[in-house]
Amino acid sequence: MTTLVIGGAGYIGSHVVRLLSDRGERVIVVDDLSTGLRARVEGSDLVELVELDVTRPDAAEKLAFQLRASGADAVIHFAAHKQVGQSVAKPELYWHDNIGGLANVLAACANAEVRDVVFSSSAAVYGVPDVDLVTEDLTPAPINPYGATKYVGEWMLADAERAHGMRTVALRYFNVAGAGHPELADTAVMNLVPIVLDALDRGEQPRVFGDDYDTPDGTCIRDYVHAEDLAEAHVAALDYLRGEDRPHRVFNVGTGTGSSVLEVLDAIARATGTEITPEIAPRRPGDPARLVCSTDRIEETLGWRATHDLDEIVTSAVQARRLA
Ligand code: UFG
Repeated sequence: MTTLVIGGAGYIGSHVVRLLSDRGERVIVVDDLSTGLRARVEGSDLVELVELDVTRPDAAEKLAFQLRASGADAVIHFAAHKQVGQSVAKPELYWHDNIGGLANVLAACANAEVRDVVFSSSAAVYGVPDVDLVTEDLTPAPINPYGATKYVGEWMLADAERAHGMRTVALRYFNVAGAGHPELADTAVMNLVPIVLDALDRGEQPRVFGDDYDTPDGTCIRDYVHAEDLAEAHVAALDYLRGEDRPHRVFNVGTGTGSSVLEVLDAIARATGTEITPEIAPRRPGDPARLVCSTDRIEETLGWRATHDLDEIVTSAVQARRLA
């Protein structure tokens, strides 16, 4: 079996590429290396890198050629912009690249008669849900262009299913952190764990955006999932698509357990052996107080559940940073 992984040199994509090649599958990585790193996908005879920007006008044709030439039977599509703030400032970039890129990918799949597609969606589709545990049945209500492009992407998958008989899965990621292998670590400093580690390395104290939320310690609660667990969820989704029955196309990927910002800082203090005295800053606009998912559907349908807890997530991120 051969899988074409678009954005496979990225942080999460490369974890999936590693799992697939480790189980003996051939992988064609398509990546424009704008944020992806060649080093993440080197070293295996089963992995080939094709440099290609899937948002270009000729991308659908080039992708269809790659699909046919490689005999790929499935596509996993990661390549997209993912910064909420940037999406508010430059929505056209997100419409063009996130939606346009997916349109090219789906057109190529239709053309090359590849049916199985796994798509990176996000908990950002839910917006600011006022529930303890977010289930997939909750009606999405994104509050920024990033989340909107992910929700539109899910509609596009459904349209492609109806028009071309495709079989698709959208995985709604919650807060991803940690590294399964040090060389695959998140090198961007955009999310809480890397931001805090970066601040500590510079001898600065991290900032907590608001401690007056209606949560036990006043700080925001999120569902942190290890990149290695998330990668396993993609492999489970691929196996599901390759099987017979397929009742769902959307799954939350998280642990079902919430951790507050202060709990994450405590875990980082333990892992680094550093004392952390955070600065309490004002609330960040658009932050829900709590965003934790129900994992019932993915556990029951894909047989997947996370196996790493917050301490393991943070320890793996700290170790990867030390070895970088
Ligand atoms: N936070 C701080 N200080 C910081 C950085 C973050 O207190 O320096 C807090 C945030 O306010 C939030 C929590 O840490 O409460 C997590 O923040 P992140 O920016 O790491 O993650 P978000 O929950 O805001 O966003 C993540 C992904 C998005 C995705 C969203 C879905 O980064 O891509 O989950 O809800 F859209």
